[in-house]
Amino acid sequence: MTTSIAAMGIVGLAGVAQGFDLQGHRGARGLMPENSLPGFAKALSIGVSTLELDLAITKDNKVVVIHNPRFEPEIARNADGQWLKESGPAINSLTLDEVRTYDVGRLNPNASYAKRYPRQQAIDGTRVPTLSEVFELVKKAGNETVRFNIETKLSPDNPDLSLPPEEFARIVLAVIQKHKMQDRVALQSFDWRTLQEVQRLAPEIPTSYLTVNQSWLNNTQIGQPGPSPWMSGFDIDTYDGSRPRAIKAAGGRVWSSYYQEVDAASVAMAHELGLLVKVWTVNKPREMEKLIDLGVDGIITDYPDVLRDVLLRRGIATPDPTPVSP
Ligand code: G3P
Ligand code: CA
Repeated sequence: MTTSIAAMGIVGLAGVAQGFDLQGHRGARGLMPENSLPGFAKALSIGVSTLELDLAITKDNKVVVIHNPRFEPEIARNADGQWLKESGPAINSLTLDEVRTYDVGRLNPNASYAKRYPRQQAIDGTRVPTLSEVFELVKKAGNETVRFNIETKLSPDNPDLSLPPEEFARIVLAVIQKHKMQDRVALQSFDWRTLQEVQRLAPEIPTSYLTVNQSWLNNTQIGQPGPSPWMSGFDIDTYDGSRPRAIKAAGGRVWSSYYQEVDAASVAMAHELGLLVKVWTVNKPREMEKLIDLGVDGIITDYPDVLRDVLLRRGIATPDPTPVSP
């Protein structure tokens, strides 16, 4: 029989989850609408050590949980119940009340995105939650250990779609502090500028540095002249292209890599530097097994139920489920 992480009392020490970190990506994207209260409730009901989520800030400075800076036709229906025909208004151009008029509870069946998540249950009428509502849900669940891996979604390529990084970080930290969640959060971003600001304003909060080098996003720009605009002035080539070394120099506590871009040597290097390694987004049991064998400290998955089964099979401690209705 395995011991639960909560029973061992080892979550939340030193500002980062101890033990293997089972993170529900966007709540439980494979099972419930992403970044939604039903999705976070599902993850809590399954039992995760961390809820992963994405943030935007509305025109009236409310912190909301949504992945893209605009409403997208793959997910959003307008107040008339019609699927958007193209990318809709930017979140930062709408008030919270206006954001709430959109329904994000069902994947558009005509979009290829829907085919990626055949197990996702639709919950019509679901609205974009605020970060405060996610914290309240966790309190309602009576869960005193689950952590939050909070991603600031902004991009140096699209400065008009968000507040500047300093302001973004300040507003998010105010919500975290209001709910007294400083000991239970990590801030993550592809855009390292917000992470630098979090370290300056709230050094007790761990920062998790996202890296990816793919055609759809390349934030490190290894081998290209000058620092990447995503990396807040750090030039990865100064560190021989080593992502762990660059993150250590930037003051990060966690290296969060696209899962296909880690190997045994890079994980070992990160650990030597005192970094934890958390990988995303891993949905197949065989991939999960391989990454656990490599020594990663946590996996971010759309299917927390699948990862939990993998961990249980291997005798790795898992967090207690805390069922709650959204
Ligand atoms: O936690 C990291 C992961 O969520 C980053 O990718 O695009 O799903 O936010 P994305
Ligand atoms: Ca994310």
